[in-house]
Amino acid sequence: MLSRLKDADKFGKTLIRMLRMILQAHPPTFLGLILLTALQALTPLASAWVTKLLFDLLALVLQGNPSVDLWSDLIFLLLVQGAIFIIGQVCVSSTMYLNNELGRKLAVLTETSVYRKISSFSGIGYFENPEFYDTIRLASQAAQFGPLQSLGILTGLFQSIITIFTFLALLLAFNPFLAMLVFLAALPQLWLQLKFSRQRYGLAFDLSPDERRTFYISYLLSAVETAKEIRLFGLAEYLLDNLRALYHKIHQARRRQELHELQWKLALETLSSSTFAVAFGVVAIQAFAKRMSLGDITLYINAMRSLQEGLSSMFSAIAGINEQILFFTEYDRLMELPQPIPINHSSRPVPKLSHGIEFRKVSFRYGENQSWVLHNLNLFIPANKTLALVGSNGAGKTTLVKLLARLYDPTEGEILWDGVDIREFDTDELRRNIGMILQDFVRYAFTAQENIGFGQISRISDLARIKRSAEIAGIHPMIENLPHGYQTLLSHAFGENGSGADLSGGEWQKIALARLFMRQADMLILDEPTAALDAQAEYEIYNRFTELVEGRACLLISHRFSTVRMADMVAVLENGSISEYGIHNDLLARGGAYARLYHMQADRYRVS
Ligand SMILES: Nc1ncnc2c1ncn2[C@@H]1O[C@H](COP(=O)(O)OP(=O)(O)OP(=O)(O)O)[C@@H](O)[C@H]1O
Ligand SMILES: [Mg+2]
Repeated sequence: MLSRLKDADKFGKTLIRMLRMILQAHPPTFLGLILLTALQALTPLASAWVTKLLFDLLALVLQGNPSVDLWSDLIFLLLVQGAIFIIGQVCVSSTMYLNNELGRKLAVLTETSVYRKISSFSGIGYFENPEFYDTIRLASQAAQFGPLQSLGILTGLFQSIITIFTFLALLLAFNPFLAMLVFLAALPQLWLQLKFSRQRYGLAFDLSPDERRTFYISYLLSAVETAKEIRLFGLAEYLLDNLRALYHKIHQARRRQELHELQWKLALETLSSSTFAVAFGVVAIQAFAKRMSLGDITLYINAMRSLQEGLSSMFSAIAGINEQILFFTEYDRLMELPQPIPINHSSRPVPKLSHGIEFRKVSFRYGENQSWVLHNLNLFIPANKTLALVGSNGAGKTTLVKLLARLYDPTEGEILWDGVDIREFDTDELRRNIGMILQDFVRYAFTAQENIGFGQISRISDLARIKRSAEIAGIHPMIENLPHGYQTLLSHAFGENGSGADLSGGEWQKIALARLFMRQADMLILDEPTAALDAQAEYEIYNRFTELVEGRACLLISHRFSTVRMADMVAVLENGSISEYGIHNDLLARGGAYARLYHMQADRYRVS
């Protein structure tokens, strides 16, 4: 019971919040909408009243009372009826326009807030949780369509409440029993509609993972990134089969729900038609007893029908709002999600790195049920030096740098920046002091200038600096030769036909390197930065590299020993911790893991 009460409380609060959002989106449009809706709601009653007067007049005429006044009254009433009709129509069209206009404003507001919220998560832990994706999907749907639909429903509700009250008053005065009968017969609808709305929400939740998967497969079948492999491996039919199976499953679930609703709706319609027949009978009996004029009869029959319709649309509206609110709670849930990593607002400035970065007894696993990736790891990255981190695939090298950039926090232990735990800094401030190129860097469908400028967003317009970074990365001449130079879009998916460009794997890597070089950071991290570069390009970059990293700490992750040799020091990551640490020659002489890995690679080049 208590939880029910709490639910009702939340229901009210959510509704008020939704209404406030609608009002805040654009107050004049909102007020205009309310006024038009009220006007529209009054037209059925006005029209019914004029019809009654018309019929009464007609009866007088039929009784052989054709005075001139009567005719002029008749014409006047017809004109009034016409005017009411026109006003009603104008209201309908204008309301629709205002409704759409307000909906557009709201959609922009709420959708940007969804994406702002997602971007505000400092750590990336949520992105590994499938439920998070369902919440995002449902929340952005609720945010995009919910306000518009709720608004439509609310104005409909407002209108039907006015209609209901006017006709209910009329009928109560005529015959309270009849009024109650019509009202009670409509009640089961409310219960059913509410039940359906909850079921539809549950269904949307259950089907969300499958629906997301259909989007994913559609993407695989239509994207430029996947077009090559899909053809080379002949995967299209297999994926299409998958897609068909998913649609089959989704449609079956929806069909079941709709058939279930249909059954109940048919039963209810039978009930309401029977009620109407009874009510019609009551009116007819009264008419035969000559207690009513012809006009009265039409008025009451009209009133009953309108009351019944009004009640029915009011109940659908209530259920509709219930459904919108249920979906909107997903938006709330997203908006209330806490930071995945604790955020420190103390805004302690990040000092210029003078000593170095220390991993102290750091252990990490991606989830409670997962195995440890790093275990009791100790590592020192000196300022002003380049440290190469080597280790086999899956050893945890990328994981280690993700911890350093606070995309995750260590499960145990601490990471110290000149002796201060990095959790004590503002995360954004910390990241501003770290320049990083990731193994899976992003190829933005933006211009070359933007692709590089993204490395230091505050300098995105500084073309001179962007060109300098491109020069260091060895990609400047290539960009100059593109159809629009630095303004060339690095994608064929957008822009005018033929205006975009596609780059080779190594060229993209150079773009990512240039992006890194844009950054003025104390600490540089390069995760497999030259894997796709040819030997000449790698050699040239490293010639400039030494100059570039001068005075900064640099962590270099690579499987290529030609790259590793550029570093001042080497650390070997094995079984979750650092097994060897020293300079290249010493480690080779030691004949341990590093020497073994080195010789394995060197052997491949040796002519036997
Ligand atoms: N987001 C994640 N969730 C769960 N496990 C993960 C996640 N990312 C990586 N892992 C696991 O953590 C381990 C270390 O991965 P990591 O990417 O750090 O290795 P790596 O040393 O960078 O390997 P490589 O040389 O292939 O780049 C792997 O076993 C991997 O499966
Ligand atoms: Mg890696």
